[in-house]
Amino acid sequence: MAFRVSSRRLCVALTAPRAALVNPISKRYASSASAAVAQSNLPKGLKDSIAKEAWLPNSDPAESSQTARLVNDQLPFMVPTYVRPPPMFEKGEGCYLWDVENRKYLDFTAGIAVNALGHCDPEMAKLLGQQAQTLIHTSNLYHNPWTGTLSKSLIEKTLESGAMHTASKAFICNSGSEANEAAIKFARKVGKVVDPSGEKYELVSFHNSFHGRTMGSLSATPNPKYQKPFAPMVPGFKYGTYNDIDGIKDLVTDKTCGVIIEPIQGEGGVNVATEEFLIALRKRCDEVGAVLIYDEIQCGLSRTGLLWAHGSLPSEAHPDILTTAKALGNGFPIGATIVNEAVATKIVTGDHGTTFGGNPLGSRVAHYILSRLSDPELQKGVLEKEKAFRKHFKALQNRFPSIITEIRGKGLILGLQLSQDPTPVITAARERGLLVITCGTNTLRFVPPLVISEAEIEEGMKILGEAMAAVFEESREIEGTKGQQEMQDS
Ligand SMILES: Cc1ncc(COP(=O)(O)O)c(C=O)c1O
Repeated sequence: MAFRVSSRRLCVALTAPRAALVNPISKRYASSASAAVAQSNLPKGLKDSIAKEAWLPNSDPAESSQTARLVNDQLPFMVPTYVRPPPMFEKGEGCYLWDVENRKYLDFTAGIAVNALGHCDPEMAKLLGQQAQTLIHTSNLYHNPWTGTLSKSLIEKTLESGAMHTASKAFICNSGSEANEAAIKFARKVGKVVDPSGEKYELVSFHNSFHGRTMGSLSATPNPKYQKPFAPMVPGFKYGTYNDIDGIKDLVTDKTCGVIIEPIQGEGGVNVATEEFLIALRKRCDEVGAVLIYDEIQCGLSRTGLLWAHGSLPSEAHPDILTTAKALGNGFPIGATIVNEAVATKIVTGDHGTTFGGNPLGSRVAHYILSRLSDPELQKGVLEKEKAFRKHFKALQNRFPSIITEIRGKGLILGLQLSQDPTPVITAARERGLLVITCGTNTLRFVPPLVISEAEIEEGMKILGEAMAAVFEESREIEGTKGQQEMQDS
């Protein structure tokens, strides 16, 4: 698919009021330049694109741009699994990204809840360089100093945090899907050991969940858009309604070997599980001898202000298996499946494995990132920043009461439920220098780096307000350029 900027978008942008963000010098330049351009006999398309460039601080790159040339050169060689918006990012620092045209963007997405310490954290980069010059990979056939050190740290920090009080051992892998794949396999294995008849194999997950794209984790992700092209799914998966306590009894039965749930659904719309629901689920798992799996791949690692999102729950709601990835490597691909002793004793040599998982490079980096993310000061800061976001959200909701219908989430995994498609807002924000993503159905999702400052929150929320004003107040049509979101409906 070629890089295209629709002429309709350009025309729309031409009629847009100048963003308050544009500084007075560029404003002055823009008005005299646009008058000159308008009177010139340049082709209309070029006139439009010049005017648009002057209009917005980060107008999406035009067809004639360096970005478009690069994209058009590369795209034919890439399997088209993603639709990306026009800019091409080449540099990051802290909470900012720069595109190949050297335009700066404030990043409220953190690579989908990954770069918790911001982009290119200098200490992480230094460590990565040191370890890359020492030892990168040996395979799991041999010991190395870092896979075990990371595993020990994951268990110790989990126990110290007051979450999963039975945490005992970790399996290190490369991604969230793989962490869940291991969890699903471990649950099946437990089912086989507990009930050798082979009848205890069912896995339960919930609507609007997202657990990954591998066949096992996909089978636990009941979204027809993802499952249908690859049907049939792995047999034995059942789906329930999130937070429906009454439905648990029929859903989780003697045939259930495992239940997997996100304590806060990320892709599904920033939906928070209630304490009562998780307690009831744990109780039912105990009754039938099923393993309870918490997928904290998006909501874990201090994003809620606690090391694990379920850390505020009483121990009777703690899981048997906990999965993590995303922020664990702050951008370096790594994941982990943490299990209790009851699960660990049922997994034997040869049951599961990975070539790259737990390599010294990734494990050393993750060990360091975990030590930074479990810092109580950072966690306290997350809760303060949540307050700052909520204050701005309230103000925005007062300004757009019919558009923003609900504010959801915890810590720095927050959602604004809109009554309309947020795609034009995403585009308008990007063109004003802010990256924000969606989830669920018409939800704006906020998963910024945890190190974001209150000044950066203010800056981003100001841009978001301007973007929403451009889309909703000036009753003009801004056509959104689609960037793919995991759970976006269309
Ligand atoms: C809750 C949750 N689980 C699993 C995954 C899959 O992780 P990965 O994309 O690293 O395979 C994601 C990714 O968005 C996620 O949010």
